[in-house]
Amino acid sequence: MKRNRLTKQQQRVLDAARDVRAKAHAPYSRYSVGAAILDENGALHVGCNVENAAYPAGSCAEQNAIGAMLAGGGRRIAAIAAVGGHDAVEACTPCGGCRQRIREFADADTRILLLAEDGEHVSYTVEELLPAAFHLTN
Ligand code: THU
Repeated sequence: MKRNRLTKQQQRVLDAARDVRAKAHAPYSRYSVGAAILDENGALHVGCNVENAAYPAGSCAEQNAIGAMLAGGGRRIAAIAAVGGHDAVEACTPCGGCRQRIREFADADTRILLLAEDGEHVSYTVEELLPAAFHLTN
C-alpha cells in the first residue's frame, strides 16, 4: 500500500471515479461506487455499480468501467481508480471477482487507486491485491 503523491494523470482518474460515483444505481445496498480507467491511449473510461431487485444481477463499478473501456476502443488498463462507500467514502478495495477482471487487462504492477476515509488516496498494485493470479496457458 502506498500514499505517494499522485501524478496529474492519476489525480484525473481518481477525480473521474469520484464524480461518476454520483451516478451509481445502488438502492439496495446504498453503497455507491464509481470506477475510472485510464487506457493505453490516455483515454478515460468510467463505470458505476448498477444494482438490481434480483440482487445477483447487479454489477460492480470496476466491471462496468472495463466494459466501457473495451467499447471505447481501449485494450489495456494503465491506471484504475475506485471510490465507494455508503454515505462517506471509505477505501473501497475491489471485490475478488473484480480483482480477477482487472488482472485480465492490467499488468501485475499497475496501480489501483482508492480514496480513503480521510480524503487522502491509497494505492495498491494489482499483484498486491491478487497475488498468484489465475491465468490460462495455451
Ligand atoms: N461494489 C462495487 O461496485 N465494486 C467493488 O469492488 C465492491 C462492491 C458494489 C457492488 C454492490 O452494488 C455494492 O458495491 C455493495 O456491495
